Amino acid sequence: MLTTDAERLWNSLMELARIGATPKGGVRRLALSDEDRRGRDCFRDWCRAAGMQVEIDAIGNIFARRAGTDRDLAPVAIGSHLDSQPSGGKFDGAYGVMAGLELVRTLDDAGVRTRAPLEVVAWTNEEGSRFVPTCMGSGVFAGVHSLEHVLQQRDVDGVTVRDALGRIGYDGTASPHRLDAYFEAHIEQGPVLEEQGKTIGVVVGALGQRWFDVVVVGQDAHAGPTPMQTRRDALLAASRLVGEVHRIGSRSPDYARGTVGFMVVQPNSRNVVPGEVRMSVDLRSAKWSTLDAMVDDLRRCIRSVQDECRVEIALEEVVAFQPSEFAAELVAHVRDAAQSLGHSHLDIVSGAAHDAVYMSRIAPTAMVFVPCAGGISHNELESARPEHLAAGCDVLLHAVLRRAGASGGRAAASEAREGGEA
Ligand code: GLV
Ligand code: MN
Ligand code: MN
Repeated sequence: MLTTDAERLWNSLMELARIGATPKGGVRRLALSDEDRRGRDCFRDWCRAAGMQVEIDAIGNIFARRAGTDRDLAPVAIGSHLDSQPSGGKFDGAYGVMAGLELVRTLDDAGVRTRAPLEVVAWTNEEGSRFVPTCMGSGVFAGVHSLEHVLQQRDVDGVTVRDALGRIGYDGTASPHRLDAYFEAHIEQGPVLEEQGKTIGVVVGALGQRWFDVVVVGQDAHAGPTPMQTRRDALLAASRLVGEVHRIGSRSPDYARGTVGFMVVQPNSRNVVPGEVRMSVDLRSAKWSTLDAMVDDLRRCIRSVQDECRVEIALEEVVAFQPSEFAAELVAHVRDAAQSLGHSHLDIVSGAAHDAVYMSRIAPTAMVFVPCAGGISHNELESARPEHLAAGCDVLLHAVLRRAGASGGRAAASEAREGGEA
């Protein structure tokens, strides 16, 4: 069977990881920053060198197209993201985009055309770290968020998405278009594949998520003269909430998770009782009814912390998506490809959000996971083995060929033998 070039894929990932490289071996390519721009430029140039036609849409999503033999067919898209967490790793997102490019390079080398066009996509701001909401570019493309709404969002310094996008020159004009299908390869970002000794995760769906902005308002006061019992300490209230969110995640069923990962304390001075805290709450579960119950629990906790600490707490929901189920037919293509290539595999549910979650609302979608060391991700130490990355890319290639249909070259012959659509 046709396989991708493991060394070329690895080298692309390592070259990309030099952009925004951090001292501990990770990357910092915050969405719409200069580093993000350089990462985008690099991807765009490589795609053009591979003969693809590159277009940018109004939220900065990059679409690199390889023509198919049938002009009337919608493209089979393969993608992920190039932005990272503030202290992110080399593989989260970058792997899916580079795997798409490697797949195209492999088809070029083998002289294989596909019936449907292929489109390698880098979605804008998947991480949701500098700008909320998460999966911003794919959310706009899927019609979940309006363009105007996301362009108005601001980072902690007050910079809008509109200004940041214009500044890096990725505010394009490409119009929305139909996709025949969507595939995404990603590191697992959890420990399951490694623990079970499997190479490929056949992703059947993803946890639902609800994200909130929380603002706790107390009163700034002098740390010396202000008696303990009269204080309205916003940070004390926020700390109680952090504990409650952890407890909600721990005591709820269906892969429930609860995280507070962002907090800004005002005025953030050693001898001032904090008067205001802004923080995030991230709740996840495989069942929407469980998420509902978790949110009810959160509201109850907020009421009691408000009374106890004599503060006001405002809660605003900023992200909500249902648990998703990927398309059975495409999931089967991924499983069959892993099987035919001789890779051990396991059906798995994604704990992380991915652009695939929004794509699954507008096109049949599937994902391929590969193991990462210790399940560690959103961390500079994130690490994955070259042979696993290559295996995932090979699975992606054959799942995509099954959908897009191959004609000509060695792959077509092999696809025909496998009973594919060639
Ligand atoms: C994406 O990185 C997520 O938060 O799941
Ligand atoms: Mn990711
Ligand atoms: Mn991520």
